[in-house]
Amino acid sequence: MAQHGKLRMILDRDYRIAELDRRVFGSFIEHLGRAVYDGIYQPGHPMSDEEGFRKDVIALVRELEVPIIRYPGGNFVSNFYWEDSVGPREKRPKRLELAWRSTESNQVGLHEFSRWAEKADSSVMMAVNLGTRGVQDACNLLEYCNHPSGSRYADLRIEHGAKDPYNIKVWCLGNEMDGPWQLGMKTMEEYGRIAAETAKAMKLIDPGIELVSCGSSSIEMPSFPQWEAATLEHTYDYVDYISLHNYYGNRKDDSADFLACSDDMDRFIRSVVATCDFVRAKKRGRKDIMLSFDEWNVWFHSNAADEDIMRNHPWQQHPRLLEDVYNFEDALAVGLLLITLMKHADRVKMACLAQLVNVIAPIMTEPDGGAAWRQTIFYPFLHASRYGRGTVLMPAGSVTKHRTSGHDEITDAESIAVWQEEKEELTLFLVNRNLERPVELSLDIRSFPQYQVLEHIVLESPDLKAVNSASGESVRPEKHAGTHVTDGCVEGLLAPASWNVIRMKKS
Ligand code: AHR
Repeated sequence: MAQHGKLRMILDRDYRIAELDRRVFGSFIEHLGRAVYDGIYQPGHPMSDEEGFRKDVIALVRELEVPIIRYPGGNFVSNFYWEDSVGPREKRPKRLELAWRSTESNQVGLHEFSRWAEKADSSVMMAVNLGTRGVQDACNLLEYCNHPSGSRYADLRIEHGAKDPYNIKVWCLGNEMDGPWQLGMKTMEEYGRIAAETAKAMKLIDPGIELVSCGSSSIEMPSFPQWEAATLEHTYDYVDYISLHNYYGNRKDDSADFLACSDDMDRFIRSVVATCDFVRAKKRGRKDIMLSFDEWNVWFHSNAADEDIMRNHPWQQHPRLLEDVYNFEDALAVGLLLITLMKHADRVKMACLAQLVNVIAPIMTEPDGGAAWRQTIFYPFLHASRYGRGTVLMPAGSVTKHRTSGHDEITDAESIAVWQEEKEELTLFLVNRNLERPVELSLDIRSFPQYQVLEHIVLESPDLKAVNSASGESVRPEKHAGTHVTDGCVEGLLAPASWNVIRMKKS
């Protein structure tokens, strides 16, 4: 056995980063593949309710306690004609869906999705089409969704059976408008102008909404971070957030290096914060632009199959697209990415695990009466969403390090703490990302007298490539014994390659 690594830290109640915004545990449903049709909606399935929504899927989404869900895209939104998705279903047109080269039946639209979100105990983060449409269309859609009555589109909504407005609070101003794959892709100047004008008009209709300006599609985009700086020059006064998107994957089949992906996410977040603050300084501004990391996940397993379907078998209705089957190391990566998002709780106020059902998702469904099941990545997300409540505290101290092929030095273990003061509960989230050696944990919590360990939950597997399926879960959390508080110090051992949740409470 290799020598143990060490994580020696102090956690103090004054080492506060910020209150954690629950919306950091948001997710995403796009009209893409089987996310909507055969995912959340499948009339005729034995588990479906009277509106055609799968109750087993709703139960799993509720288990994850997802506070906000981005909709309807994604790339899909950049050619979305929302009017096609409302009103009597039999009159809704089928459309060629160009982003994913599929056929969209429009049988699920705004009304159905907002009903589903209610059932799933979540709220909607809506995106407007700034690809093939613009200011007027965004205004019409907002009026349809949020204006009470007495105007053309509000009255149309009422005529369609929704007396009460949907009151959608968060709106994305387009999607990945810097991407050559995006319908209606824009230059920075074009996007900055249209986003600012759309935001200005939307806030006249409903001053209570919050707006997200599109940032770069990933840190790899050649125009990053100039895109953020140039577009915020236009949008700074009108928007509240800027978006970040990034997907990670073990493309080199080098697990140790793959698990350094959270350092890349950290660098991305820091760079966007610096760029927002640069624009604020330049404008002598008085507000901070917050971050909405509204697409993040592991995504690479399905790339070749997706390419084949879109290129050679287009125009299917809800084909199997982006159906990544996640393994154990992907769950570790998702855990690390969640820790990184929590570390930035002062600026990252929203984030969406992309996506939620069937499409690069923690929840999968089988058609034809089949089951719904939990992928490996379901578990770290579940734990973070369930126990990551309260104030984020940053442990300070030292951790042993190791090298990977693409990163000079990374920590053996990553950690963050969240404290729920009223309930006197403290939760530590930790990943030992060293594949070889256990890490000895020694965390001084003397500023939390009488706190004792309630449970230590661990996700571990002898096989980094182990997957779950409809017929069983080979990756599922277990309770770990032996972690305890002695003389104000939490002591325990973090197994190599493991996700750990240590829950403590004042006794
Ligand atoms: O989540 C899948 C796709 O990834 C989204 O449609 C797009 O915004 C991103 O490129």
